[in-house]
Amino acid sequence: MDKSILCIGAGYVGGPTMAVIADKCPDYKVTVVDINKKRIEAWNSDNLPIYEPGLDEVVKRARGRNLFFSTDVAKGIKESGIIFVSVNTPTKTFGAGAGKASDLQYWEKTARDIIEHSQSDKIVIEKSTLPVRAAEAMSRILQSNTKGLNFDVLSNPEFLAEGTAISDLDNPDRILIGAMRTESGQKALKRIVDIYARWVSPEKIKTTNVWSSELSKLVSNAMLAQRISSVNSISAICEKTDADIEEVTGAVGMDSRIGAKFLRASIGFGGSCFKKDILNLVYLCEYYNLPEVAAYWEGVVNINEYQEKRFVKKIIEKMFNTISDKKIAIFGFAFKADTGDTRESPAIYICRWLMEERARLMIHDPKALENAKIDLKDIQGNIEYFEDPYEAVKGAHAIAVLTDWKNFKSYDYEKIYSLMEKPSFIFDGRNILDHKKLYSMGFNVFPLGKPEQTHLSERII
Ligand code: NAD
Ligand code: UGA
Repeated sequence: MDKSILCIGAGYVGGPTMAVIADKCPDYKVTVVDINKKRIEAWNSDNLPIYEPGLDEVVKRARGRNLFFSTDVAKGIKESGIIFVSVNTPTKTFGAGAGKASDLQYWEKTARDIIEHSQSDKIVIEKSTLPVRAAEAMSRILQSNTKGLNFDVLSNPEFLAEGTAISDLDNPDRILIGAMRTESGQKALKRIVDIYARWVSPEKIKTTNVWSSELSKLVSNAMLAQRISSVNSISAICEKTDADIEEVTGAVGMDSRIGAKFLRASIGFGGSCFKKDILNLVYLCEYYNLPEVAAYWEGVVNINEYQEKRFVKKIIEKMFNTISDKKIAIFGFAFKADTGDTRESPAIYICRWLMEERARLMIHDPKALENAKIDLKDIQGNIEYFEDPYEAVKGAHAIAVLTDWKNFKSYDYEKIYSLMEKPSFIFDGRNILDHKKLYSMGFNVFPLGKPEQTHLSERII
């Protein structure tokens, strides 16, 4: 029991996190359960349900030895002393707090399952991202059990980023564990610290009270997203003034108090968490009657939407104010490179707006085409999907780069230019291509937050 770990929720967090724990702690038995049968089947196959560099190797090493994937939630609960809960906590779409608050129905369902199936004391760990004080509700539900069992609820938020999950888990900036200040809470805390201490050095394991831990996760995401919105807002000024956003962020980031990371201008941040977690923070501020604080953080989300819309407006304006019936090749649909995940991808919104203008879209992405088809399935009009970039650009008037996949840089742009309609446009929403070179090939190039390079009109820089 002491060395039996269960994780409820086999998603982007539960799967990789538990695979790494099993890999690093061969004397623990780690079981990951999910109500989604197809997902569990995939975890047990050679074709894992998520694409993540390095994940296959870790799973192969541990699976069947001390790592197991199953749909039997009840058995998992009975047999484990330590239960991580890593279910989804999306934004609520109905009732009070709709559009901002976290939807805690999946989370609460696991509490009910834990009570129903437990036959011994458990440590229950919030791995999902939750509103601050969620552990209080979880504790109250669990302590309402009539079996005389003790449950310690801890918070251990996850900070991995998709695309780098395995290296983030192997070598985290910090492990954060929050526990109640009771004797039992502190004992439980020690048992969880012991697991991470197998591969994480003690100074990187930060222990706090539960509420600080819960809030720190929301604040970390809000501050990361805030950096991107800050830079993206400045990219708009750069485009008006011929300042160059990369020169600006290069200079600004050299200040060690600011730092150089996470200052890349983009079409906006996507992913399953930034927007939902900031809105969750906004909702909490409103709930605690802090309207100014709520408005401050909501601004980060507003700038993100502004940036996505600004990109589409630029495409329309630069293509002579109409894109109706024009073919636009979309390079990248995933919310970032090295993942097939498209949740909250800016590409979803950008493609929808382009379709509203009656453009024809040819979408190319190395890993995300299946998800893209699902995301756009309700859209009427002309959308095609291509594995091969050279097929995607045939007869295209423009290319819009929406994801920062590295391999986009190594495509043969001479060939691409020869396959496209003229004048040919490139809108680089990630600033990853060699703009000077593309311009010299004949393209009209529109980077983000940098001077455009076009053959259409002379511009003095
Ligand atoms: P996900 O949707 O990929 O996975 C959640 C899984 O939980 C699903 O497979 C779902 O079927 C399962 N589930 C839901 N209810 C269940 C129940 N009652 N019993 C068993 N299984 C159940 O979500 P995710 O991306 O892994 O995120 C999980 C949590 O981690 C969220 O709170 C998220 O905010 C947080 N988080 C995510 C990331 C990320 O990069 N994706 C990073 C850090 C934190
Ligand atoms: C983010 C955080 O980085 C993780 O620490 C956190 O655990 C996770 O959210 C979560 O809670 O879900 P993730 O969303 O996977 O991870 O990916 P990021 O690398 O943070 O990128 C998010 C978005 O911001 C992407 O669309 C990316 O392209 C964009 N981005 C990132 C920029 O536009 N500019 C940058 O400089 C960095």
